[in-house]
This record gives sequence, structure tokens and C-alpha cells, in this order.
Amino acid sequence: MYYGMRRMVLRPIQYRSQLSRLVSQGLSITGRLLSTDSDKPNDFKVEEAETLKPQPPGPEKLLVLGGNGFVGSHVCKEALQQGFSVSSLSRSGRSSIQEHWADGVVWHQGSLLVPDSLQDVMDGVSAVISCVGGFGSGSYMYKINGTANINAIRAAAEKGVKRFVYISAADFGLVNYLLQGYYDGKRAAEAELLSKFTYGGVILRPGFIHGTRQVGGIKIPLGVVGSPLEMILQHAKPLSKVPVFGPLFTPPVSVAAVSRVAVRAATDQVFPPGIVDVYGILRYGGEQR
Ligand SMILES: NC(=O)c1ccc[n+]([C@@H]2O[C@H](COP(=O)([O-])OP(=O)(O)OC[C@H]3O[C@@H](n4cnc5c(N)ncnc54)[C@H](OP(=O)(O)O)[C@@H]3O)[C@@H](O)[C@H]2O)c1
Repeated sequence: MYYGMRRMVLRPIQYRSQLSRLVSQGLSITGRLLSTDSDKPNDFKVEEAETLKPQPPGPEKLLVLGGNGFVGSHVCKEALQQGFSVSSLSRSGRSSIQEHWADGVVWHQGSLLVPDSLQDVMDGVSAVISCVGGFGSGSYMYKINGTANINAIRAAAEKGVKRFVYISAADFGLVNYLLQGYYDGKRAAEAELLSKFTYGGVILRPGFIHGTRQVGGIKIPLGVVGSPLEMILQHAKPLSKVPVFGPLFTPPVSVAAVSRVAVRAATDQVFPPGIVDVYGILRYGGEQR
């Protein structure tokens, strides 16, 4: 009882002493800001609150691999016209094209076969469009159409790039045997793309692509052959289902249609993933007559 009474009496005293200690500590900490010194009446300052305005997101960044080639340069131009921010990577770097739009592209020099080249180019990129491919010996064709693109697909997946579009090629049946490295390379890259970009991977399979190939200031019109053929062969679609005729009746497509579809596939989140054949390119590219 006596002990209990002592505790009851002591508690407020302990509480008061803790409180006074806290108050005196508090004052010494906040005293600098909340001074009541009569000779320092204006020490209490309120910093003006900074209003942070939300910044609108910048344009979506696209990386075009092989942006200085025939198809790649049209893809770069199309993407710029649609308001995207565009960069390109290729072995020779800046395009030799002397047109105003080429100044809008950030040109990187490097090879898809050299891992270091892929280190920084994909930073902040939302989609990649690969126009890298080519002809040569069997092993070279496999390397450039297959290995080089597989390296790019893996690097993009690791960097968290959302969408990847690969310009592949239509199946030409018997001709595939003559250009085995080319088609084997294309199909190996396609398989890698479908496995790494299940929801954001799109493969375009054009046959012959016609349009203007520009080398420096010189324009070479490949459309002279391709365009009339495209019109005739579009109506021969049923024949393309027959194995012997199929490759012969694959209509050519314009480089403009390929570029439009490539940019749309890279930027439209609801564009279906998977393979787009020649007829799909004509349809999505707005050239189906
Ligand atoms: N043209 C057609 O009729 C046609 C038809 C069907 C499919 N395709 C396919 O469409 C794609 C584009 O064809 P295209 O006619 O535009 O070819 P292209 O003019 O020869 O362009 C190929 C591009 O790839 C770049 N490149 C090559 N090796 C590279 C490497 N190791 N690293 C980085 N860049 C490299 C080249 O630039 P550098 O030389 O500066 O590296 C060039 O920019 C190819 O995949 C092709 O197979 C074309």
C-alpha cells in the first residue's frame, strides 16, 4: 500500500521531468527556427512552396536498326513524320542521304555482331524496328540475317524494350535452297523474336519491295518494275496457295507500305503480335485495292 502510494506520487514527478527535458531539447532544436528573441523578430521564415507542374511525356523513342539502308531510311522518315523520336544503328552510321529529315535522326555507328555496340543505344527506347539483313556467302547471310538480329532481340528484351518489329522475308519455296543461309537466318531470328517478345513481337514478311533507293544525292527508282507487278499480282492471290506457283505470285509491296506497317506495329499497343505476310502488309499499309 505504502509502496503503491509512492509510485502514484512519483509518476507525475517523473513525467514532469521527462516532459521538461523534452521541451528543453525541443526548444534547443527548434529554437533556431521559432525564435522568440525580441531582437530577432523575423527569424521565423516560411519557404515559398514550389509548385511542381507535371511534365508531359516526351515523344516515344524508336530505334531503327539499319536506318541508313533502303527500307530503314523510309522507316526513319515515316516515324519522324508521325512525331516519334528516332535513332538508328548501323556499321556506317549516318546516312549519306542529304535530305532535311535525316538531320532529325540520331545516328549511331556500330555492329549488331559486336556486343558493345548494343550497350547504350537501347536506353529509354520503347520499340525497335530491325531492317538489318543482306546477301553474300551462305555463312555471311546466316550471320547478318540470323545471328545479328538474334543479338539485337536479346539485348532489347534485357533492356525491357516493349515492342520489336523485324523485317523478314516471304517464303520463296525452291529459291530458299539457293539462298539457304538467308532463309535459315531469317527463320532463326523469327523464332527468337516470337520466344522473347510473345506479346510485342511482329514479323513482316514482304516479297520484293519496290520504291526509291537513295544513295547520297542519287535516287534509284525500284518502283518501275515493282509497282505494276504489285497491282497485277494482288489479284492472283488464289494461285499463291498452289505450291508451284506460290513464290512466283507473291506480289511486291511498296517500301512506303512496309514502313507504315513497321511504324504502326512498333507503336500501336493493340497491333497483333506474330507474322504479317505480304497481304497483311498491303492491308495494314492501306494499299489493298
Ligand atoms: N529490299 C527488298 O526487296 C527486300 C525484300 C524482302 C525482305 N527484305 C529485308 O528487308 C530488310 C532491309 O532490306 P534493305 O533492302 O533495306 O537492305 P539494305 O539496304 O542492304 O539495308 C541493310 C541495313 O543493314 C545494315 N547492317 C548490315 N549489317 C549490319 C550490322 N552487322 N550491324 C548493324 N547494321 C548492319 C546496313 O548498314 P551498314 O552497311 O552501314 O551496316 C543497312 O542499313 C532486310 O532484312 C532484307 O532481307 C528486303
